[in-house]
Amino acid sequence: MSAQIDLRDVGQVFQVRGNDDKRKRDFVALDGANLTVRAGEFVTLVGPSGCGKSTVLDLIAGLTKPTSGSVSVDGRPVTGPGPDRSIVFQQYTLLPWRTAQANIEFALEAVGGWSKAERAERALEYLDLVGLTEFANRYPHELSGGMKQRVAIARSLSYEPGVLLMDEPFGALDAQTRERLQEELIDIWRRTATTIVFITHDIEEAVFLGERVAVMSSRPGTIHTVVDVRLDRSGEAAEDIRGTREFAAYRHEIWSLLREQRSAPRSVRVEVASVA
Ligand SMILES: Nc1ncnc2c1ncn2[C@@H]1O[C@H](COP(=O)(O)OP(=O)(O)OP(=O)(O)O)[C@@H](O)[C@H]1O
Ligand SMILES: [Mg+2]
Repeated sequence: MSAQIDLRDVGQVFQVRGNDDKRKRDFVALDGANLTVRAGEFVTLVGPSGCGKSTVLDLIAGLTKPTSGSVSVDGRPVTGPGPDRSIVFQQYTLLPWRTAQANIEFALEAVGGWSKAERAERALEYLDLVGLTEFANRYPHELSGGMKQRVAIARSLSYEPGVLLMDEPFGALDAQTRERLQEELIDIWRRTATTIVFITHDIEEAVFLGERVAVMSSRPGTIHTVVDVRLDRSGEAAEDIRGTREFAAYRHEIWSLLREQRSAPRSVRVEVASVA
């Protein structure tokens, strides 16, 4: 059910207006980005703000077309959005006038292929997967941030996409909720075997979740290094994984790689106001 993703020499150029004149000019957001995510793999994507992480996700989702190179899923070029790929954003994107269950049923209806009774059954099944059975009839405003994001994840998984794309999905949550959802997500990933690409600003989150961490650089936006994270996630070891020396070493390695990106020459000048 899970699918492989291939980005080959992907370039993305946007047309933007300069500050000085109204003429449009090219802005290179991605240049020569290469990445393969194997079927069933969990890859996290980190990089400086504006380096092109969301652009990579949008390309895989089919929301944008690359200017050059190719993006394919299971060997087929991506030509637009489809139910084989699902995306979860940082902002909760639930319909406020529908209950948790009805939000999922709505997505299933849009994808098509299930009867009304099947949609109801499936919605409950996926709410159960994220531990929200009791909250099926609640409206989004009656749910906490973490619960809303769980519903969004359940909705994304309900039509069994081969690929789950997540753009800083836990960014708006408090640290404790975030950690709990990270653990739940690993559990869900194991049970559904979905291929996951997960963007985060949080290095710990990237190391905790990713079997591999792809580190991006900006100007040009590209996949700079892919770090294999070999941590023992089996049984009891998983619980204390964040406290191990191995975990700290990976965190440091990613941090160093990101710092290299930050210290690259930039055109930004910082003006410091003089204190009289
Ligand atoms: N539709 C667009 N038109 C013009 N420029 C764009 C467009 N989409 C993105 N960009 C530019 O491309 C670059 C990469 O944007 P992107 O949103 O992919 O970055 P990001 O790595 O996700 O950043 P952040 O961590 O802040 O979310 C940015 O400089 C952004 O301004
Ligand atoms: Mg982004």
